[in-house]
Amino acid sequence: MLDTARIRADFPLLRERENDRRLVYLDNAATTQKPQAVIDAIVDYYRTTNANVHRGAYALAVRATEAYEAARVRVARFVNAWTPDGVVFTRGTTEAINLVAASYGRANVKAGDSVVVTAMDHHSNLVPWQILCEEKRASIIMVEITEDGRLDLAAFGRALERRPKIVAFPYVSNALGTVNPVAQLVRLAHAAGAVTVVDGAQSTPHLPVDVQALDCDFYALSGHKMLGPMGSGALVAKPALLEAMPPYHGGGEMISRVWDDHSTYNKIPHKFEAGTPNVEGAVGLAAAIAYLEGIGLDHIADHEQTLAAEAIEKLTQIEGVTVYGPRARGHRAGVVSFTYGDIHPHDIATILDQDGICIRAGHHCTQPLMRRLNVAATARASFYLYNGPDDVDALAGALVKAGALFGYVPA
Ligand SMILES: Cc1ncc(COP(=O)(O)O)c(C=O)c1O
Repeated sequence: MLDTARIRADFPLLRERENDRRLVYLDNAATTQKPQAVIDAIVDYYRTTNANVHRGAYALAVRATEAYEAARVRVARFVNAWTPDGVVFTRGTTEAINLVAASYGRANVKAGDSVVVTAMDHHSNLVPWQILCEEKRASIIMVEITEDGRLDLAAFGRALERRPKIVAFPYVSNALGTVNPVAQLVRLAHAAGAVTVVDGAQSTPHLPVDVQALDCDFYALSGHKMLGPMGSGALVAKPALLEAMPPYHGGGEMISRVWDDHSTYNKIPHKFEAGTPNVEGAVGLAAAIAYLEGIGLDHIADHEQTLAAEAIEKLTQIEGVTVYGPRARGHRAGVVSFTYGDIHPHDIATILDQDGICIRAGHHCTQPLMRRLNVAATARASFYLYNGPDDVDALAGALVKAGALFGYVPA
């Protein structure tokens, strides 16, 4: 297990108290807390380096551009991107997927075509495809999940028989914690002639990612879920695909020459980064990556899987608690979704908050999944490197208290 006392000392907000209690932050799938190193990197950037990038002729602007481009190289190395030019900075996963749908999708999906998604996809990896399919009169094929919350591989195979143009799926489900066999899914999708879009919002922060080994075509990530600033993130793609794609947003930076009635475009990745970019976000994200690499993604993955296993064991001992998603280590990340009898998940979250415990309650932007689980909402605890067994104990203890408070009577 990681030394959580030492790690927590790096996170100013985790030293704060909530309702006069130690803050137990278990909403890491929504966003993560920031270490001092990330906060310092952002402050230092504004103190020493701030200028607009790619256009200044003076030394300060050159330094700002270098900081921004160094962050791109850092992101590229972190996920083993094909080249730094294949890393487009975006506001996060949502914008990265919208970019692919609006650019690659519009150029390549035609009437009668199909796009494959899964029943465990976040709305971010579903709604952009719905918008595209509506516009193009193409269809969405949703792959079902198994009883234990894994992707139904037989259904995936049947979906591929329809020769979809695009196959999109999450590496890790934010609602079930399921870790999908991405390399296998990509191989199958490629054999069926599709390009693949991997939603990496919940994998990039929590396990080692190698996009070249996965061989996916597009990979989306969010900086704020991996200790970085909000509004930072990236689309990582095979450069040849980006080269061939039309621009996403028009404006400054993304052009080469502009005439009265048409323009030519900049080379990748700048073709997809119209306007002044979030330089502070990129610099902060690079500092977050440095911090994560200092600990090691394999250690982080191991730590979280142990916590999830402990949480599942403790929670399932409480009569009336149902935990969703796969049980086997290796198939699940540090996300534990549960319900407790007929107590509304929002009530559970409110009671836990009184003990300084932050969990999420709701549909987790996965309404199609909630329908399949036959629930309107779940409560969700999601772990990160600063959580420890004490947090699991706090969660389980507070849940028992919540059950008593709501007079939960086992059926
Ligand atoms: C699996 C998954 N995909 C996409 C997103 C969207 O990420 P963002 O809001 O950072 O764009 C989230 C955020 O919760 C997520 O968990």
